Amino acid sequence: MLHAPKFLEEEHSELMNSLRNASKTGDETGKAVGRLLEKLEPHFQDEERLVTPCLAALTPLAEGDITVSRQITPLLTELERRYRAFYEEHKVIRERALAVRNVAARDGHSDIVDLIDGLTHHAEIEEEVLYPAALVSGKYAAAMSRKT
Ligand SMILES: [Fe+2]
Ligand SMILES: [Fe+2]
Repeated sequence: MLHAPKFLEEEHSELMNSLRNASKTGDETGKAVGRLLEKLEPHFQDEERLVTPCLAALTPLAEGDITVSRQITPLLTELERRYRAFYEEHKVIRERALAVRNVAARDGHSDIVDLIDGLTHHAEIEEEVLYPAALVSGKYAAAMSRKT
């Protein structure tokens, strides 16, 4: 059984809970957050289905436990097919997040401005580290299962 990296699960659920609350401001900020959530919810779900398990496999694979390869290898084809789309979705998410940030700053929702900055940081870590790490993990797992 693979255990999802705790920080990632927590970060996703914290961001999602805070954004769902932020969507209820009853003003333009809330509406802009709603538009952001339309894109973000399916994006997070796909990350949790494809990226998170590959990241969960990193520790066992690094420690030489290749039995996890069987769980990861079936995800590789879809992860490879979907890989560039994750980056493309971030572009749309960034645009909508920026729209939220602008309207939230104007409406005096400094907490929501901070929340958007947190989301942007989250996306940067994914692009620079987590997505490539997940892909390498999947490819390594597939290579290991071919050997066994
Ligand atoms: Fe994410
Ligand atoms: Fe993402």
